[in-house]
Amino acid sequence: MSDTFSIAAARDRFPALQLDQVFLDNAGGSQVLGDVIDSISKYLSHTNVQLGASYNVARESTSRFEAGYKAAAKYMNAEDGEVVLGASTTQLFMNLAGSLQFQEGDEIILSKIDHETDIDPWLFMAERQKLIVKWWVPEGPTFKLTPENLKPLLSSTTKFVACTHISNILGTIHDIGAIAKTVHEAGALFCVDGVSYAPHRRVDVKAFGIDFYAFSWYKVYGPHISVLFASNSAQKHLKCLGHFFNPIKTLENKIGFAASNYELTQAIPAIVSYLGGDNPGPVFAAIAEHEGKIQKILLDFLNSREDVTVHGETTADSYTRVPTVSFSVQGMGSREVVEEAEKVSNFGFRWGHFYSKRLCDEVLGLGPEGVVRVSMVHYNTEEEIQGLVGVLKKVLP
Ligand SMILES: Cc1ncc(COP(=O)(O)O)c(C=O)c1O
Repeated sequence: MSDTFSIAAARDRFPALQLDQVFLDNAGGSQVLGDVIDSISKYLSHTNVQLGASYNVARESTSRFEAGYKAAAKYMNAEDGEVVLGASTTQLFMNLAGSLQFQEGDEIILSKIDHETDIDPWLFMAERQKLIVKWWVPEGPTFKLTPENLKPLLSSTTKFVACTHISNILGTIHDIGAIAKTVHEAGALFCVDGVSYAPHRRVDVKAFGIDFYAFSWYKVYGPHISVLFASNSAQKHLKCLGHFFNPIKTLENKIGFAASNYELTQAIPAIVSYLGGDNPGPVFAAIAEHEGKIQKILLDFLNSREDVTVHGETTADSYTRVPTVSFSVQGMGSREVVEEAEKVSNFGFRWGHFYSKRLCDEVLGLGPEGVVRVSMVHYNTEEEIQGLVGVLKKVLP
């Protein structure tokens, strides 16, 4: 564990972790930092005016909002003009899909293991621009997206490829940098859904070498606001959707639509500061190490049972996966597992397809109840996960 980031101390930064509830649905949404809550309250109490005016309070509001934007860009290692904030990743991808310009007959490749957020906007774009859609379906049991299983789908008319960095069901980390190289060699643009990755590992869009990348701060210890990166070079493929009289320089100008939520935007520096500010390396090293320990406790138990199938990678290696663990139990529905656990404990986890419906139905071949998903983050303790194993021992057949 790094000396500079203590998991035990980190827990104290989240007011909700004092509640009598163990939070294990973090891939749905994480708990919020106390500093973020305070910052939103302070903004609304002292500086809630329309931005851009020259009087004192408006100047302060504007500068807090701009600092939020700058912090988001810097956090991702993007330039200031390369990010836009918005209501959700789904909304931002929809905005991007409305702005990207291709030619009729161009091909796009979509991964079938993705959350619908990284599928539906591109189907909508394909329908309007008469593009050809090809599906990228990795094989089990690991369902890993790789340059090798992408290559057979690429052609000289491929113009756009979209996939997830980590599936919100499977938890496997895909080598986005290697896939980006392959996509670019084919002359296409590459869009990655980073929503399940960002709570666990450092986001560095330059190191990934991608064109578009989005994630949602409400899963990264903050409020309900999301960010999309589009590289300056990829922005050449965007049509500006802003009012004709406004500037057309930045990504925010092009697809931002009337600004993001003020009080949430200005809270972003508080999240970035928690994650190490200018020095996120030690924080994420500590997070990865701790996550490896807690996922091992759960995976060791699940892997030891013949009647349990862990979907995707079964290893607890934190280079391979993050602690979003989904499983099915032979002879017991996913819903029943959760309901029985809730009867005897305060462990909050869920069943379902989690909007990765094509993955659950068509790739994993599951029924309507989907998987049981336990999604942990760094503030979950080893004791909590040992407790969960105890509960599962009681409720499983
Ligand atoms: C992998 C993944 N992508 C996208 C989304 C959608 O994010 P948002 O709610 O910000 O649109 C989610 C939400 O659960 C997700 O898990």
